[in-house]
Amino acid sequence: MTMRISRRAFNGGLLGLAAVGGSAFGAEPARADVPTLEASTGLAQLAPPEFPITPIWGYEGHVPGPVVRIRQGERVERRFVNNLPQASTVHWHGIRIDNAMDGVPDLTQAAVSPGGSYLYDFAVPDAGTYWYHSHNRTWEQLARGLYGALIVEEADGGPEVDRDEIMLMDDWRLTQEAQIEPSFGAMGDRSHGGRIGNWVTINGEGDWRRTVRRHERLRLRLANAANARIFVLELHGLEGWAVALDGQPLAAPETLRRFHLAPGQRADLIVDATAEEGTDAFLISLERDGAYRIARFRVDGTMRPRPLAAPAPLEPNPVAPLRGLAEARSVRLLMQGGAMGGMQSAVMGGRETDIRDMVAQGKVWAFNGVADFAAHPLLDLASGETARIVIVNETAWPHAMHLHGHHFRRIDGDGNVGPLRDTLLLDREESAEIAFVADNPGNWLLHCHMPEHSAGGMETWIRVG
Ligand code: C2O
Ligand code: CU
Repeated sequence: MTMRISRRAFNGGLLGLAAVGGSAFGAEPARADVPTLEASTGLAQLAPPEFPITPIWGYEGHVPGPVVRIRQGERVERRFVNNLPQASTVHWHGIRIDNAMDGVPDLTQAAVSPGGSYLYDFAVPDAGTYWYHSHNRTWEQLARGLYGALIVEEADGGPEVDRDEIMLMDDWRLTQEAQIEPSFGAMGDRSHGGRIGNWVTINGEGDWRRTVRRHERLRLRLANAANARIFVLELHGLEGWAVALDGQPLAAPETLRRFHLAPGQRADLIVDATAEEGTDAFLISLERDGAYRIARFRVDGTMRPRPLAAPAPLEPNPVAPLRGLAEARSVRLLMQGGAMGGMQSAVMGGRETDIRDMVAQGKVWAFNGVADFAAHPLLDLASGETARIVIVNETAWPHAMHLHGHHFRRIDGDGNVGPLRDTLLLDREESAEIAFVADNPGNWLLHCHMPEHSAGGMETWIRVG
């Protein structure tokens, strides 16, 4: 892969946003036997070896953090220990989790101060590929490396494959000296496409490679941990199917062609290495300036004379089926603002605020005309109720909308119902309607997964009674 670190000008300065404080949440009892998950500073050789090592923030000092791997239905127990110079929390993305364990500062817990700890202890109802990441000052903490994989193995043992590879994709903004460029949360990124980087890694490696055998069957668990890069991906020399999206099995495996992976999204692929022996197969990222090989599979030897037949669908997870769509409550979520959005003002602190005063406070987007965290939920639902949200992206930018604690389906006027997802990519000026059964009580965030955008105003919440 070609070296792509280039010096780039960056606009905007550091936004000195204060960390959250003050606890309205109770302390939890101390327990000695729980494994810890410690956030700390660390070092990683992100760039090629001729470049300096990169100081990062990571779980257990590594990027990515340790893989949390459990069986469906088991509990995850981790004592989060914060050895960072900032308050932090852990969000377990895509898990239909107990609300108190969701890791959202001020909504589900108080952020954990430096030196503090918090016990995460929750049951995991669904099998699949998930991930965990910081959810405080995410525009900085995610960009510094605070994420890891959370793999929930199917109760029935899952599909038969020869190899199972987790591939956490990231997009770093590095300086020419391979240091993390420190313009976290810069206004230019907030108002445009978020913090786009110049160096792609998989599992923290700039040159991720494996050796496989011809017609070996692989399960690839892709997750996009980047702040803002929407990966457009293709496989060369690997052929197969998508079997799950955002952890949730597809009703039928889908043949793979070019596919998108937006920030926060995952895709489980089952593929066979079909490249000739002695050649390489690749995962390709299509970018504006060309196609980049971001993962390499050397084909050495042959495992079987021909590829295996299509896999059976994965066992569905116990997600409540959508029902009562016709009578379901429906709300509109209008996404406005950003560069070239023409927004003049929005509500902040309860009053209409001019865009210039908004920008001075770091806000450039609005949901239904409100730029700061809304005092009232977008939806206040009874437990078990079906809800519909029509999301209208009026902006000139794509966004990746993530709902916490639930998985939803995209629906259209013709009665087509899409696969279960927790994060939906909306192109510029695209609208979509989603529907879900609100069966997980608590206060749940709904936000753009590009943290520069959520910090800039793209954040709301729903309440499930
Ligand atoms: Cu993966 Cu609210 O986040
Ligand atoms: Cu966005």
